[in-house]
Amino acid sequence: MPRNDLILRSVRGEPIERFPVWIMRQAGRYMPQYQEIRRKAKDFLSLCKNVDLAVRISLLPLDLLKVDALIIFSDILIPLEALGAKVVFTEGEGPRVLWSGNLSDLKPYDPHQNGFVYEIVRRVKKAQDEVPVIGFAGSPFTLASYMIEGSPIKDLRKTKTFMWEREYDFRRLMEVLTEAVFLYLSHQIEAGADLVQVFDSWTLFIGRSDYEEFVLPYVSDLMDRIKRSYDVPVIYFFRGSSSFLDLVADTKADVLSVDWSVDLSVEMIRFDKVFQGNLDPTLLYAREETIRLKTLELLRTIPRKTGYVFNLGHGIAPDMEFNKVKTLVDTVRGFKLGRS
Ligand code: CP3
Repeated sequence: MPRNDLILRSVRGEPIERFPVWIMRQAGRYMPQYQEIRRKAKDFLSLCKNVDLAVRISLLPLDLLKVDALIIFSDILIPLEALGAKVVFTEGEGPRVLWSGNLSDLKPYDPHQNGFVYEIVRRVKKAQDEVPVIGFAGSPFTLASYMIEGSPIKDLRKTKTFMWEREYDFRRLMEVLTEAVFLYLSHQIEAGADLVQVFDSWTLFIGRSDYEEFVLPYVSDLMDRIKRSYDVPVIYFFRGSSSFLDLVADTKADVLSVDWSVDLSVEMIRFDKVFQGNLDPTLLYAREETIRLKTLELLRTIPRKTGYVFNLGHGIAPDMEFNKVKTLVDTVRGFKLGRS
């Protein structure tokens, strides 16, 4: 058990002395120390596959920010290579996935091809016993979006037309991805991940009825399968959160990680779920005093003294300043919860 188990206690609804904090993309480009390690690798994919360097990067936010959980350094697109798709990261452009659009061009997912990811989980656990370690995967829908768009994502025009016009193939792809994500997360859990997070970054662009018809069944199935097999908290991050909150609340996800479209003071009372989020990341471009004030404003509206994990509503951008991120984390750490 990590010495600081604040996040695990909060997720279980147990008493906590302050709200736990970690931040999406905490191990990334806004950190000069990340840039320095990044230069040692040929490109981003080689960095993800270099276990020593990936472990060092994963640990940076503990040393530099004192966060309450460490997410492993990797990328949601990594398992797609093990399905036979080609993944390309071009500097400054965003990732692209090359796939023909034919299911027959995909290989059955072999989780052993991603052994380096589970090794990163194992090594981040071993390197410190201070805080819990978060494993992660992209959701079936967000992975399908990268596969179908084929170019850096701006909107989901190809994904949505594929979904509407080639429903049979779309559903088969979603089934393949649900199975792959389940196996991929299972191996991370068996390697020691204390929590896992599923990222649904592109649900922002779909309507409620499409979410209900084409996304929710696979998210529910994935959550059912993880919770049937493992006793590890599952966090589900989904953008465009306010459109689907009630649907997601009915899944077995333990923690709903929401963007700033959700009013936590209302929804945390309506839904008996643990919430994570949801500060607008743009705040990190403001002055430090503004960051402090707006963060405290959010923390004061949280209607419970447990069952909440502080995070942003989305990730830190590469051009944000390290010192401001530090101010944010310090502000949350300094917000003590009284006894009553
Ligand atoms: O959160 C963390 O610090 C852990 C590591 C992590 C990365 N990507 C590292 C990364 C995690 C959890 C991710 C998840 C991820 N990757 C998501 C879901 C979260 C979200 O942001 O919505 C998505 C959609 C991706 C796909 C992806 N990979 C994008 C959009 C980018 C940025 C492209 C760009 O150049 O702007 C990446 C690359 C990436 N993933 C970087 C990092 C640190 C930057 C790579 C570099 O150093 O050049």
